[in-house]
Amino acid sequence: MSAAPIRLAVVGNPVSHSRSPAIHARFAAASGHAVDYTRIEAPLDQFVATVRAFADSGARGCNVTVPFKGEAFAACARLSDRARRAEAVNTLVFEPGGWFGDNTDGAGLVRDIELNAGVSLKGKRVLVLGAGGAAAGALDPLLAARPAALVVANRTPAKAQAMIERFAASAARLDVPLSAAPLESPGAGFDVLVNATAASLQADVPPLPTGTLRPGALALDMMYGAATLPFLRWARAQGAIARDGLGMLVEQAAEAYFVWTGVRPSTFDVLTDLRREVDAAVARDVA
Ligand code: ATR
Repeated sequence: MSAAPIRLAVVGNPVSHSRSPAIHARFAAASGHAVDYTRIEAPLDQFVATVRAFADSGARGCNVTVPFKGEAFAACARLSDRARRAEAVNTLVFEPGGWFGDNTDGAGLVRDIELNAGVSLKGKRVLVLGAGGAAAGALDPLLAARPAALVVANRTPAKAQAMIERFAASAARLDVPLSAAPLESPGAGFDVLVNATAASLQADVPPLPTGTLRPGALALDMMYGAATLPFLRWARAQGAIARDGLGMLVEQAAEAYFVWTGVRPSTFDVLTDLRREVDAAVARDVA
């Protein structure tokens, strides 16, 4: 008799576009686990009730995506340190005493930069654009990678300032200078740029001055697909290496899979195949 499957899901609104079920199906097959991972679209005003019903049905946990990461954070009985400081949860584990909330986005980002793109962050000057949940999720793992400096630039500079204050103690402990700046004047000569704004959703490129990046820098947009093309083109025009968020997507999923099962799946083949699919879809979109 085969074991009952581990039941998981991604909860968001909208969620029909999510590639998480396909990614986790690949991880499960490679790990020899029986996993049933579905998409659940929660009504905008019923996130907690929707997740509670899923938990009560015997599920092990779920991923949380837009726009519910803040609500998930608020509903947890227990949090990882990285989720507490990010004030955003993308991975829930259903425990007897309540929900455990984690945030695997930043760990996925750092693994993608360091392992997949092959860029060590230690000693580098790193610029993060944005001060929403996506940026907040990235800060702890970026600090832990010990860059020479970490600057957060945002369209509304006061939000960047408020956000970095939550991370000031970690930055001081790790001896990483952490500062906030306006988008129009973030400083010059960065080695790594992470676009965590929602600008690509509007096919927009943040208004960074020429010279923000040093030639050969890595410029990564957390999003992927046709919407990121303006940012990627801009990055290449600055002499940078342009990268979308597909690797981060697969790596944050692998980290979540580890949180649920204790097994860290290999990501190489999954990312290679997904890259082929997304590139083909983008080519169709722009044709
Ligand atoms: P998320 O949880 O995905 O980070 P969010 O909390 O809505 O979403 O944050 C969106 C971020 O993108 C913010 O930093 C926002 O800047 P403001 O704080 O000034 O609103 C930024 N953003 C959105 N559209 C942008 C654009 N067209 N250009 C630059 N920044 C943009």
